[in-house]
Amino acid sequence: MNVETQKVKIFMQKHDNQKRALISILQDIQAEFNYLPKEALQDVAKTLEIPLIHIIGVATFYRSFSLEPRGKHQATVCTGTACHVRGGPKILDEFERKLGVEAGHTTEDRQFTLETVACLGCCAIGPVVVVDNEYFAHTSIREVGSILKKYRKKEKDNE
Ligand code: FES
Repeated sequence: MNVETQKVKIFMQKHDNQKRALISILQDIQAEFNYLPKEALQDVAKTLEIPLIHIIGVATFYRSFSLEPRGKHQATVCTGTACHVRGGPKILDEFERKLGVEAGHTTEDRQFTLETVACLGCCAIGPVVVVDNEYFAHTSIREVGSILKKYRKKEKDNE
C-alpha cells in the first residue's frame, strides 16, 4: 500500500467509512494533496461503495475541490467588465505567457494555478489580480513578472 492510499484510508476511517461523510473525506484529501487524485477517488468509491461517477459529480459541483493538481499559489486575474475595459485581458495574456499555461491550468512545476474570475467586487481598483490572498490593484503588464517573482522568492525563502 503506497503512502497516498494509506492516507486516504486513514481519512475514511476517521469518519467510520460512512457514506454521509463523503464531503468531509474529500475535504481531507483535497487538503492533503491540494487536489483529488483519481486513485484516491477510486479508493473512496470502493470502500464506501459509492459509484465513482457520483463522487466525481460531487467533486466538480463544489468549487473548493479540484480534480487537477493545483499549484502552491493561486493567481487569479479578474476578467469582469470593469477590469476588462482597463486592460484585464492583456494582464491575463501576460500571466499565460509567463507561466506557460492557459487559465484554468497549473504550471508543470506545480507552483502556480492560473484562474480567472468574473468580478472580485473591487472594480474601482481594476485591473485586479489576486495571488493567494494578496490583492494587486491597477495592475499593469509590466508588474506581472515582479508579482510572480515575489511568490517564487517566497518559495525559495521557505526552503
Ligand atoms: S470587474 Fe474586476 S473587480 Fe469587478
